[in-house]
Amino acid sequence: MKICTNMKERIEQLQKKINQVKIDSKETLEQFRIQWLSKKSELQDLLSGIKNVVPKERKSVGALINKLKEEAEEKFNNYKEKFKETAQTQQLPDSYLPGQPIQLGSRHPLNLVAVQINTIFQSLGFSLADGPEIEDDWHNFSALNFPPEHPARDMQDTFFVDDEIALRTHTSSVQVRLMETQKPPMRYIMPGRVYRNEAISARANCFFHQAEGLYIDKKVSFADLKQVLFEFVRQMFGAECKNRFRPSYFPFTEPSAEMDISCFICGGKGCPVCKQSGWVEILGCGMVDPQVLSNSGHDPETYSGYAFGMGIERITMLKYSINDIRVFFDNDIRFLKQFI
Ligand code: DAH
Repeated sequence: MKICTNMKERIEQLQKKINQVKIDSKETLEQFRIQWLSKKSELQDLLSGIKNVVPKERKSVGALINKLKEEAEEKFNNYKEKFKETAQTQQLPDSYLPGQPIQLGSRHPLNLVAVQINTIFQSLGFSLADGPEIEDDWHNFSALNFPPEHPARDMQDTFFVDDEIALRTHTSSVQVRLMETQKPPMRYIMPGRVYRNEAISARANCFFHQAEGLYIDKKVSFADLKQVLFEFVRQMFGAECKNRFRPSYFPFTEPSAEMDISCFICGGKGCPVCKQSGWVEILGCGMVDPQVLSNSGHDPETYSGYAFGMGIERITMLKYSINDIRVFFDNDIRFLKQFI
């Protein structure tokens, strides 16, 4: 009987102790498990002492110990669950945090200007066209009236693939391809990449970009050409920008001219970019040579036309006051991100 009373008292004391245990971390939870639920715990000790209890009390004492054990287990499981939850919530991203800003890329300045050139000429009735960058001798040179001994055909200027094939040196080759396949009236703007075997410097690169223009119809005149180019300069550089035409020579146009604009950088006063002249050249142009018309299957007695070609790098450099062509191809983010 005495034993039984002792047992009950011990059970009550242990229950108090268990209730008082403070669990506030994974470590204290583990200590709790070892102290109260492991094989060496006091509760286990109590259970093995049951054989000393008088038989008629054994059942009720056993039930008390089991209840205590269950309570300890419940306490353990509750805290285990709680710590699992907090561990999980710590891993979850906070959905109320403002999002990370996504870095957007920017348009390449050459692309911005090429699109602007296309848009201006499209607004004047021109359609977009392009042609191959690897071109044959006929389309790049012969059909455009370049005599066999012309210096542009020289190995020093042209990247040849073999005797007949080269990387195109200008977009004028696309003119020939269009004239061979289309019937007048035709009005095209042809942007694209061209290649020249030149030493790389602040002013020259071994590849660059051009936009070529072509209009073939009956009774096309030089006045039509000037009118379109005036409008182009007005839209690209603004109404206050002056321009002038200078006579020039190209094998595929007759007469030929070059168009200058008042220097965009010094406003015409004179600076290193315009070599103190106040003018900078922006394009070559002229009336399509009758020989070029017949080379591509059109009767020069019936049709006439004009053509022009401009360097996209040159226009971009003037527009944004850039003094070194190499920056377009360096892929330096600090330069590129200025253009939105
Ligand atoms: N193809 C010439 C060049 O690369 C530019 C050019 C001049 C194009 C006169 C033309 C033109 O269509 O009529 O320098």
